[in-house]
Amino acid sequence: MKLTELFFSEKKVNFYFDIAFSSLEKIVSQEHAILLTDQNMFNAYADLFKGWNTIIIQSGEFFKQQQTINEVIAQLIEKEANKSTWLIGVGGGVVTDIAGFVGGIYMRGIKTGFVPTTLLAMVDASIGGKNGINVGKYKNMVGMTKQPDFLLYDYDLLNKLPQQEWANGFAEIIKHACIKDESMFEELEAHSIEYYQSNKIALAALIEKNIFIKSSIVQIDEIEDGDRKLLNFGHTIGHAIETAYNLPHGNAISIGMVYALQLSKEITGFSEVAISRVEKLLMKYHLPLSVDLDKEKIWQLIKMDKKRANTSISYILLEKIGKGIIHDIQLTDLRQRFEKITLIS
Ligand SMILES: NC(=O)c1ccc[n+]([C@@H]2O[C@H](COP(=O)([O-])OP(=O)(O)OC[C@H]3O[C@@H](n4cnc5c(N)ncnc54)[C@H](O)[C@@H]3O)[C@@H](O)[C@H]2O)c1
Ligand SMILES: [Zn+2]
Repeated sequence: MKLTELFFSEKKVNFYFDIAFSSLEKIVSQEHAILLTDQNMFNAYADLFKGWNTIIIQSGEFFKQQQTINEVIAQLIEKEANKSTWLIGVGGGVVTDIAGFVGGIYMRGIKTGFVPTTLLAMVDASIGGKNGINVGKYKNMVGMTKQPDFLLYDYDLLNKLPQQEWANGFAEIIKHACIKDESMFEELEAHSIEYYQSNKIALAALIEKNIFIKSSIVQIDEIEDGDRKLLNFGHTIGHAIETAYNLPHGNAISIGMVYALQLSKEITGFSEVAISRVEKLLMKYHLPLSVDLDKEKIWQLIKMDKKRANTSISYILLEKIGKGIIHDIQLTDLRQRFEKITLIS
């Protein structure tokens, strides 16, 4: 037997930080690019798209599904997109997930770029190469890991972002702080959404810090064999809540994190004081701590979670603020513990 090691993950991804959207033309020519955006983005920033060949999908998580993929592919064919065409996703996580996926499968892959336009997409969804769609009630069930060629960050695009979407983005930022960065946690405690909205320099620094936290985790574990699992903190129950209650992603994972704090208390000895600090921080950033759950419904969805391996699941817990750990737990054990947790709103 001869073993040959081939490396597929050395692709270079260019990050263009803090530049105007209009600079996109310097990266890709209008002639060879097709932009993908959603209806809300297009309505809010119609001028940006002038001169660009643009495909518009309907807004919202519901449209992150196969039917939309088929429609985008049909439009790419109609626009005669070929191997030298760039597909650039300009939008939130729904748009970048779809652009990444279509860019990965159209003609077995064309060059892709992302212009993330929600805080959540800037700090999380557009980073790391995961893309894909939901299948019925199962989140991100189909997709692939493929890095985009570049990302462009124009922080001014956040000027029209609805207030609710700021909170959703902060849910992922707080997640990063909880699993990896105690000093960022303290920084967040000292500030607020309003502070970052009115202080562009602090906002840019915070976004870039989060990009580096996520990127450095992904760089050592692109295929989610180990450390990348930490990024699922709050997501096991969070995804189920998102689907079952139609809550925005960030709101759902906020509640998922609160459950994970309770499990952490039992399993790692995460302290009551630390729990209340995390809960206070979530509330400060306008995130919910609980929802009236139908536990049986949630449990059926958790069982289908992609991270499940046979009879156990990799659950992300906190040892302390800034230190997440991967804990493999038997499904039967998890179920018993889950039944016992009652969240107080
Ligand atoms: N691939 C990954 O690693 C990853 C990580 C985290 C989340 N996600 C996915 O990301 C999605 C959530 O992303 P999201 O929260 O950005 O949702 P989204 O893409 O639905 O955007 C939220 C809303 O904001 C609107 N919008 C976007 N940019 C705007 C702007 N600049 N001004 C005004 N309105 C704007 C959108 O039209 C939409 O209505 C989920 O599908 C989730 O699964 C993926
Ligand atoms: Zn998330």
